[in-house]
Amino acid sequence: MLANVRSVVRFKSIELDPVARRLAQAADVADLRRMAKRRLPAGVFDYIDGGAEDERSLAGNTAGFRRLQFNPRVLRDVSAIDTSTTLLRRPVALPLVLSPTGFTRIADPRGELAVAPAAARAGVPYALSTMGTRSIEEVAAVSPGSKWFQVYTWKDRGLVKDLVQRAAEADYEALVLTIDTAVLGRRERDVRRGYTLPPKVGLETIIDGMIHPRWTLDLLRNDPITFANVAGDNPAADGSSAVSLSDFINTQFDSALSWDDVTWLQSIWDGPIILKGVQTVADAELAVQAGVEAIALSNHGGRQLDDAPSIIELVEPVAQAVGGQIEILCDGGVRRGSDIVKAIALGASGVMIGRAYLYALGAGGERGVDHVLRFLAEGMERTMALSGCRTIGDINRDLVTWRDAAR
Ligand code: FNR
Repeated sequence: MLANVRSVVRFKSIELDPVARRLAQAADVADLRRMAKRRLPAGVFDYIDGGAEDERSLAGNTAGFRRLQFNPRVLRDVSAIDTSTTLLRRPVALPLVLSPTGFTRIADPRGELAVAPAAARAGVPYALSTMGTRSIEEVAAVSPGSKWFQVYTWKDRGLVKDLVQRAAEADYEALVLTIDTAVLGRRERDVRRGYTLPPKVGLETIIDGMIHPRWTLDLLRNDPITFANVAGDNPAADGSSAVSLSDFINTQFDSALSWDDVTWLQSIWDGPIILKGVQTVADAELAVQAGVEAIALSNHGGRQLDDAPSIIELVEPVAQAVGGQIEILCDGGVRRGSDIVKAIALGASGVMIGRAYLYALGAGGERGVDHVLRFLAEGMERTMALSGCRTIGDINRDLVTWRDAAR
């Protein structure tokens, strides 16, 4: 009897490492999001998770991907799948970039130093934000991979020029100029909580800290969170005193930013420039005229203008207008490998992700980021195999249909 039971029951070995145990249960990005929500103080989670105003741009980004269905081809020998391609003429293991996100250290004490090496291991570029909480040089020291630097234009152009020079000296390959943040979007979850960056210790934070002791201990044990790229240079601009993000951006950033500034940036930087935040065909055409190497279609993850277009819905019209003249990246709502395949099918060269890796970072630190990048790569390989595409070149417009195209 016992022998019979033994022959059918196999006990799983117990995973003693809590991070590995947690990540083993994270089957998708939604699971990582739930884990991050449990582990991070509510204000921090909402800052990452939330969007502007009624959050329709935020919801539209993910909803857009659901509007697409595949037209899978079969009997095509998919025994060897190759997701590799090039972005900005450099080889990448898959058409994916980690988008710049400010204040990464609120999700994990190592912040950008945990994310950049994971991107390097996955063979994809990492874009460090101007608002990063680890410096250009610190990130370069830990990551041998491809690195891009994202520029916000401070009113003090000397500061911007300095940052660009430092990025060049530290071998960053490209600049990402974010152009959708003339003023800060109204993120009403943050407004309701009176959320400041860095998190200010008030009664609410203390209560939240008691509920999330690990996060609070990490915050107290580590060096203060500041905008590491500008720390010390300009006390008004380094974020070392807690302010609301909207006050900070609206006083420090230049809302007069225009196409002339793109020309100025080209004059101080030799490498490729990506304009991030293009949301219309008309501006994509102007980007071609301006002579930049790439655009990133983006509504800032739904955090700026509410009711901005769903990004995946923008890819095809933009590709029809300027495809072949400029490289087209896009971000907003990418949560699965199949989403990457959909974007490529509509004409993008690659996609970028923000929240997917931030949730993973909050859920499991650096190993969490490895986990989500593996999840996306495997999802892309599986989607390609199940839809009959062996290489990126096989992914074309015939692969997808808008479900409601006949509307
Ligand atoms: C961002 N994003 C952003 N973009 C940028 O150019 N500079 C920045 O400093 C930041 N900071 C930032 C913080 C947080 C918490 C989030 C969630 C996003 C926008 C980001 O680069 C990207 O456009 C979106 O995150 C893409 O949407 P998904 O992938 O989050 O849906």
